[in-house]
Amino acid sequence: MLRVAMLGAGRVAQVHAQSVSENPDAELVWVCDPIEAAATSLAAKHGARWSLDAEDALADPSVDAVIVGTPTNTHVDMLLRSVAAGKKVLLEKPIDLDLARIDAAWASIQARAPFVMLGFNRRFDPSFREVRERVGRGEIGIVRALRITSRDPQPPPAAYLGVSGGMFKDMTIHDFDMARFQAGDIVEVSAVASDNGLDMFRQAGDHAQAIVTMRAASGALVTIVNSRSCAYGYDQRLEAFGDAGSLEAGNWTATTVRAASATQTEAAGPILNFFLERYTPAFRNEFAEFVAAIREDRAPAVGFADGRAALALAEAANESVSTGRVVKLG
Ligand SMILES: NC(=O)c1ccc[n+]([C@@H]2O[C@H](COP(=O)([O-])OP(=O)(O)OC[C@H]3O[C@@H](n4cnc5c(N)ncnc54)[C@H](O)[C@@H]3O)[C@@H](O)[C@H]2O)c1
Repeated sequence: MLRVAMLGAGRVAQVHAQSVSENPDAELVWVCDPIEAAATSLAAKHGARWSLDAEDALADPSVDAVIVGTPTNTHVDMLLRSVAAGKKVLLEKPIDLDLARIDAAWASIQARAPFVMLGFNRRFDPSFREVRERVGRGEIGIVRALRITSRDPQPPPAAYLGVSGGMFKDMTIHDFDMARFQAGDIVEVSAVASDNGLDMFRQAGDHAQAIVTMRAASGALVTIVNSRSCAYGYDQRLEAFGDAGSLEAGNWTATTVRAASATQTEAAGPILNFFLERYTPAFRNEFAEFVAAIREDRAPAVGFADGRAALALAEAANESVSTGRVVKLG
């Protein structure tokens, strides 16, 4: 039985805590968050102990693993302290907002050969996985293009934008990782972005929407279409297009019922809204991989290097937006 501590008790922590509780080989033993109400309610829900200080869980020798679901600016600190305490780590994205800090963090823990899995939950989405597996079986021949659509239902609060690191590092980071997952290494990045004339984005120096085009080392071309708001909900779609066909993963609705009438056909109910609902199975599968990799004493399916690579793509996209140039990666 893997004994797990949850660091943070906010939005993403609640999904992780649920995944731990549902896994027969794991047990949630600590929830740590400086906001007492958050720590106590999540701990009570899952029968765990709670603390305002992550150190209490890290100092507990009976804890095998931690999930870091604290704000991004605390990730490196939490990672270093968890590894120093001998814990296995599932670390939320992004590792950090700065490549140099990421490299320094790795340099300081590398000698311990730490077990660090990155929280790129979308790799464990059943539909996106199926696309990758079927591409791998050669079903659509040589992949020429990958199209990723990723639109949030509504923007985060203005205060969040200021500390998020910007759209590419906070939001598109998932799509950069998905691009690598589906199409392999990326060698060229180009991006355009707009604040849609909205003050909240302009003041934060951030974007309301963006389109990123990339070239993979394989030759495949990748398009990522992002928006911080979307009138019809959380739009999460993907298509791989190859010489012999295409594989498309569409949006999820609660049921498969489709309506037809004099004014519309194929009308479905609303698409599952936001990550808690849409990616629940992905989070569950992600945690199952964490447990399996530890049990089998092997590297996790997605690791620290993947987190670094996704951030490097985010930095390249930022550079492309500000220079108007295509950015080539080594
Ligand atoms: N994989 C995903 O789909 C996904 C989704 C949402 C958020 N995230 C990532 O998860 C992280 C958290 O995001 P969120 O939306 O859950 O934020 P949140 O603000 O809802 O929750 C963060 C929690 O961490 C707590 N916290 C702050 N400092 C702490 C500390 N030192 N020790 C313990 N707890 C501390 C806060 O009090 C808060 O309750 C971010 O890095 C974000 O990028 C990932």
